[in-house]
Amino acid sequence: MSSLSTSRTFNIRTVDVRTDSVTRIGAAMHRAMAGTEFEKGPLGEDLRVKELQKMAADMFGMEAALLVPSGTMSNLIAVMVHCMERGDEMIVGDLSHMRIYEQGGSAQLAGVHSMPVTTLLDGTFDLDQLVSNIRHDYPKPFYPRSRLICLENTHNIMGGRVLPPSFLQEVRAITDRHGLAVHMDGARLMNAAVALGVSPRTILQHVDSVSVSLCKGLGAPVGSLLCGSQDFISRAIRCRKALGGGMRQAGILAAAGKLALEDMVLRLEEDHRNAKTFAKALWECDSSLFHVDMDSVETNIVCFRLCDPSLSPSEFCDHMAQIWTGEEVALQQGVRVLMLPFFGGIVRAVWHVGVNAEDTQMAIKKLQFVARQYSNNKQNNRLQ
Ligand SMILES: Cc1ncc(COP(=O)(O)O)c(C=O)c1O
Repeated sequence: MSSLSTSRTFNIRTVDVRTDSVTRIGAAMHRAMAGTEFEKGPLGEDLRVKELQKMAADMFGMEAALLVPSGTMSNLIAVMVHCMERGDEMIVGDLSHMRIYEQGGSAQLAGVHSMPVTTLLDGTFDLDQLVSNIRHDYPKPFYPRSRLICLENTHNIMGGRVLPPSFLQEVRAITDRHGLAVHMDGARLMNAAVALGVSPRTILQHVDSVSVSLCKGLGAPVGSLLCGSQDFISRAIRCRKALGGGMRQAGILAAAGKLALEDMVLRLEEDHRNAKTFAKALWECDSSLFHVDMDSVETNIVCFRLCDPSLSPSEFCDHMAQIWTGEEVALQQGVRVLMLPFFGGIVRAVWHVGVNAEDTQMAIKKLQFVARQYSNNKQNNRLQ
């Protein structure tokens, strides 16, 4: 590659697509938070939080909801409530966030054994494998007791895939037959709903509990909503307290959360559109360098593979983040594109409210520039 530019006088644009949890709150959210007074209920609780929880329960078609500090805590609480006895087990996708990125909290803190099932490319499981992994009607006490099946929608590692409604229906039928509960890690549930063009209730009719993030595509600064039956949430409140997640004057967060649910859902379509535009540009750019499965780009995440083994994902991400000599002339400005070297030799880019159509076009220009630099460099090495 050409050497790094040392000139720093030109304008630099940063396009940060590492994840959708890097969003900064917008002016309207700032105002909503600033205008929040503590409204004390009879037990000293913040009534704004109750308002948000009621709104979420209605929106998601659940009896009750609970504001928790993070998606990780929300998933853990769900496991603790669904799997209450020693020797209980959850069945979970081997590439799910709960299995890979939550430090094994279900084992570490809840004492729950996890039984993995193979995650398929579309984020689903093979249903026969799922059924064969259910083990609770054995007469002998060798096995843990399966209590819970965890799903992830949209599926992060699989590139924001939306679980097909027919899959959810089939999982529900299996769990009903075997007396198991279904929890959905719906950190990006609203992306799934927008992509399918259905209400979140329609998706959630097949599950017992869901965790929805407020601070990814929905742009709030912090928080997740755990939803389920009244009894589930009563128990969840106790677990949240034990985990240190009880929040006192959290109305300021509830104000942001409310705005996130009211105003930020429809705009997710824009993120999906921008992600597809970028994926198409990747596909058209240089097939000896990039491979992307266009059909797999269903929401705001683009996962792609680098085809040349001499270019690693982290090296490529470094190239996209650097400003190169001549770049400011070629692109009319310097562009840093921040992406994530991801799981299994893949690069991940995630769209959100902080990256608009113009940023996406600049990211595409940078991609094409880096690809050109790379192929020129290869050609020169061959000629030498
Ligand atoms: C699918 C999924 N579930 C759960 C989480 C955890 O959320 P948090 O970072 O709020 O703990 C994430 C975070 O990226 C995620 O992508």
